[in-house]
Amino acid sequence: MIVCEACGVALDPEARFCGGCGQRRRSGLTGEINLSGITEITVTADQAAAPLVQPTEKSESDLSGVTLNGRYQIESRLGKGGFGSVYRARQLQMNREVALKILHPHMAADPQLVERFKREAQASSKLRAPHTVMVYDFDQTEDGTLYMAMELLRGRSLGHAIGEEGALSPERVVVILDGIADSLEEAHAQGIVHRDIKPENVYLESKPTADFVKVLDFGIAKIISGAPALTAAGQTLGTLEYMSPEQLMGESLDGRSDLYALGVLGYEMLTGRHPFEARSAGELISAHLRKVPPPVSTLSKTHVVPPALERILMRLLAKKRDDRHADAAALRNDLLGALKRASEPALKRDPVRSPPAKIDPPTEQLQRGNRRMLIAATILGAVTALAFGLAFWFFR
Ligand SMILES: Nc1ncnc2c1ncn2[C@@H]1O[C@H](COP(=O)(O)OP(=O)(O)OP(=O)(O)O)[C@@H](O)[C@H]1O
Ligand SMILES: [Mg+2]
Repeated sequence: MIVCEACGVALDPEARFCGGCGQRRRSGLTGEINLSGITEITVTADQAAAPLVQPTEKSESDLSGVTLNGRYQIESRLGKGGFGSVYRARQLQMNREVALKILHPHMAADPQLVERFKREAQASSKLRAPHTVMVYDFDQTEDGTLYMAMELLRGRSLGHAIGEEGALSPERVVVILDGIADSLEEAHAQGIVHRDIKPENVYLESKPTADFVKVLDFGIAKIISGAPALTAAGQTLGTLEYMSPEQLMGESLDGRSDLYALGVLGYEMLTGRHPFEARSAGELISAHLRKVPPPVSTLSKTHVVPPALERILMRLLAKKRDDRHADAAALRNDLLGALKRASEPALKRDPVRSPPAKIDPPTEQLQRGNRRMLIAATILGAVTALAFGLAFWFFR
């Protein structure tokens, strides 16, 4: 039996996401990277042979019930990710519920990863956009445990939503993309590239409005400088399915790399599948670099995709960043236009006022027949009255 690595729920062998916690199955793409023909990427043979996607996790004890640093009462584990576990906890001093991300203990021993974790917390704590998760605090305990306290989100991850519902309607997709773009707009203005936009790092809350987006984990986001996508340990700074061609090439990144990931996300939300379906990591890299994805309108089985939205997604998925939207603000403008255009035919299809009442043919016929009978009866009545009148006059 296959079970979710994060929550232990039994999984369908074909499932891409866990139905219990929404976690993506990490075992999806662990083939060796066949770099034949991808000469532009410079990686060592060891890196090429290493399984990609995420760093491996060691099993670790559940910290539920523990008081951390004398400040956080840990209640229960919400889930596990590549770099840490996330717990629901109570911040004792403030008496408020928080989400506590705790770095996996074996990673706290790796100075590079510790550095990355600290950078995640520092970068995130500067962000204030309504669609970005609020980071309250981060610290390292005396025994070396690294943690970050953040706003506790109520709702579910976008991965969970796609896993449960499959393809989403174009209207919802536009709202979700717009929320993420709003979060990115602020981060990009501060020189922070997210680098790991994926369904697990987008949360959907139901308040203050439906599908209210919160972007999580500006974790591997870093103040722009060119670190290679493939690290020495064969890990990726990001998730392969959502990586832009320039990220895969190890070029220095700007916000347009996140816009590419957003294109992949939009494609996935509309169709329930990725733009590129590959059997190995190498095939996927090659597709990101060279292949044009099939138009979403040919794949969306449940919804009609407005052409304007399809154009936006194809532009986001452009191989060259200069061919994408210049920034998140430009994308938001474009999305607004697409939403307006999409709603026009919808309004025509679903008018607010009810159409004028129309008499159906049988009713009309019935009414016409009744009218004739009434006229005939009136004439008959008049003739009879006249006959009686004449007879009375004649025989009197
Ligand atoms: N602020 C939060 N509020 C509520 N749940 C959260 C919060 N942050 C994370 N979670 C949940 O905790 C789980 C683990 O999150 P985590 O970020 O560690 O993993 P991930 O996003 O799958 O992988 P990665 O380490 O690559 O980010 C996820 O299921 C997520 O939905
Ligand atoms: Mg995450």
